[in-house]
Amino acid sequence: MQLVGNQLGQRVVRKLRREVNEAVERTNYRFRQMRYAHKLPELDELGKRIVREVNETGISIVHLDELNAPSNADLKAAIPRALEDLDRMPLDGSHLEGMEYDKGFEHCVPLNPTHIAKNYPEFYMWGLDERVLDIIDNLIGLPIAYHGVQARKEFVDGSVRGSRHWHRDSEDRNIIRINMYLRDVLDNDGGPFEYVPRNLTPHAKRFSGFEGRIDDDVMRKVIPESQWRQCIGPAGTVIFGAVAKIYHHGRVPKRPRCAAAWYYTTRQPTREALCREFSFERGIPFIDPAGLTHRQRECLWDYAELLPE
Ligand SMILES: [Fe+2]
Repeated sequence: MQLVGNQLGQRVVRKLRREVNEAVERTNYRFRQMRYAHKLPELDELGKRIVREVNETGISIVHLDELNAPSNADLKAAIPRALEDLDRMPLDGSHLEGMEYDKGFEHCVPLNPTHIAKNYPEFYMWGLDERVLDIIDNLIGLPIAYHGVQARKEFVDGSVRGSRHWHRDSEDRNIIRINMYLRDVLDNDGGPFEYVPRNLTPHAKRFSGFEGRIDDDVMRKVIPESQWRQCIGPAGTVIFGAVAKIYHHGRVPKRPRCAAAWYYTTRQPTREALCREFSFERGIPFIDPAGLTHRQRECLWDYAELLPE
């Protein structure tokens, strides 16, 4: 009986210690943000709207043209070539053989980072556009690390795997992922990015026993489907998401969805190894460093060491 009492006591102490550590880390993080606040770049009205919406709901949706980033034209010129390559790739699982990512792409075909870097680096460079960085800076509130771009095409196999489960990303305390549809996603059959708005996230804390992988039936029990939000839009729809703070997933598509995603954390991410697992690391040695500004190099974080001379 005393043994059970001791075990229970130890568990309570461990839980308390975890909670105290978490509170200290949260306070430190907030303190660093406050000290950095005066260095944040000014935003125009659209940038302010994006930041406000992401802070309120976890998501903000704009169109690439509306965003009006200087690199838009280069990216738009590169998209048809990337789509051609995605369409040529077999959707039968054989891509896993030559894939440069270790895991996480079992339900889709990604373009390899080296392929993007050699054939359409415009995808990678768009994520370093100063207009984009200004917005991300304001969303994270600390010096940012850019982990690169992914471009992929989803299988239509009805399976619920990987990021098709409801989850929150966990590379850092705050992660901003920009998703962009390369082709129209105009209804649920197109497999839209779907999320639960941020104000409902506390309810989802009941998921704590589910190791972050939640299927639709479990989610429905906590958050009614009527409160789920789908990001629907034509090709060029850009979705800014605070993906560590909201539950989200890619809805199982009935048509092959093609999308690109850029992602950012602080320069002291809580799970550095996980950042690298899904990063553009393999492609960086093929990126032309000429013309990169001091700010862009800083955003490359540790990856800058991989740039060619
Ligand atoms: Fe995610």
